[in-house]
Amino acid sequence: MSSAPVELDPRGQGPDVPWHLSGSRQPVFEEATLTDLEVEGEIPRELNGRYFRNTANPVTGYTEHWFIGDGMIHGVELREGKANWYRNRWVRTPMFDHPGVDRLTLALDKEKFTFDHSVSAANTHIIGHGGKILALEEGSFPYEVTPEIETVGPHTFGGKLKGPFTAHPKFCPDTGEMLAIGYNAVPPYLTYMRVDPAGKLIQSTEIAVTGPTMMHDFAATRNHAIFMDLPAIFDVEMAMKGGMPIRWSDDYPARFGVMPREGSDDQTVWFDVAPCYCFHTMNAYEDGSEVVVHGMRVPEIWRDSANMDMSTPPPPEDMPRLHEWRFDLASGSVKERYLDDDASEFPRIAPARQGHPWRFGYALGGDPESAGMGGQINKYDVGNGATKEVHRFPTGHEPGESVFVPREGGTAEDDGYLMTFVWKPETDTSYMVILDAANISAEPLARIHIPRRVVSGFHSSWIPDPA
Ligand SMILES: [Fe+2]
Repeated sequence: MSSAPVELDPRGQGPDVPWHLSGSRQPVFEEATLTDLEVEGEIPRELNGRYFRNTANPVTGYTEHWFIGDGMIHGVELREGKANWYRNRWVRTPMFDHPGVDRLTLALDKEKFTFDHSVSAANTHIIGHGGKILALEEGSFPYEVTPEIETVGPHTFGGKLKGPFTAHPKFCPDTGEMLAIGYNAVPPYLTYMRVDPAGKLIQSTEIAVTGPTMMHDFAATRNHAIFMDLPAIFDVEMAMKGGMPIRWSDDYPARFGVMPREGSDDQTVWFDVAPCYCFHTMNAYEDGSEVVVHGMRVPEIWRDSANMDMSTPPPPEDMPRLHEWRFDLASGSVKERYLDDDASEFPRIAPARQGHPWRFGYALGGDPESAGMGGQINKYDVGNGATKEVHRFPTGHEPGESVFVPREGGTAEDDGYLMTFVWKPETDTSYMVILDAANISAEPLARIHIPRRVVSGFHSSWIPDPA
């Protein structure tokens, strides 16, 4: 894997700078703690905790692919209507400690042919479960961090975790369990896991898939886990060359598997679907004999290269769009359809609706005027023909994944707040925005200004103070 330095101009806009290291994605190299943050509007006093975003922020300043930079977490602590601090910290991993050294070199024991799964970029998501805060990256063990974003170390659930752990676990609102998968380039290609509310790994089940598929996400209903065995697969030759070792395959069947949530591989029912990829599911639920999955479908990814340059976004039909799959466990039939003509990604729902029928979903909307991750947040109403209401940011401003936080005592599904970090190009600074989820097109409830760039990146969570 190359670590060739690239000269970045102050705004990261030089001609030789790849898209994934430019603009809002340009790495920052200083770890800051800022306590005197300017706030516009009013921060709801009931929001006590921390909002975190995980990002790829290479220590060397350069990576060949967006997805492989070292994890840096940005966070803001809110308490009693005040923004106490903003911090950003790299996650201390073996990759952080050995900048520019090839990941395989660090992880592979060539004599025993074993992998050290503590070698992680820890860059994809950050979640709270069982009293711990975990930075997640799907190729490795989770990394525990403190509420102040200091690294504790790799987390193996007391030695029970033997392989990679997804960046997209599901949190059951009924049992408090965390459901997860782990996929791997070598057998077992897929493992399904359940973690109890206290953080104990209580089930670990191997699932037979066709081959080394990149299963970035999965889905869960109240009673089932759903696996996406899709044609983006590990390519060993690409891995030896460095870079992103995943390619599209026309020979690999596209299937979804539905398994009882506490079940086993032999209980998994597989359904063929039209070839596609789905980085992220919105939700899944049961409707009679059907299991319904909603997610952001793309017709294919990474046929010739894993290039993700979005400076000239492709047409919406080649971008991720909200899609519905219906798998009938009684008849074995599949029905699928797009629910939106416009591109969107980073789907989220109210945590209480996880696994249940849902009406409102939130996603980062494609913005034809902005060559970034989109300039708007979409609020989908699937109970009303998947219409959408939009919060449009000022031209050029780049929000990220937004997170829904329910209002204390609220009962309506959209009674709560939406939060995200937004990059402001004219000053190369950022702000955290809090929107009223029931009225998202309205002026924000609060903007918390951060006089630095909060790098655009991946997934985020609101982690409230312990009750
Ligand atoms: Fe993701």
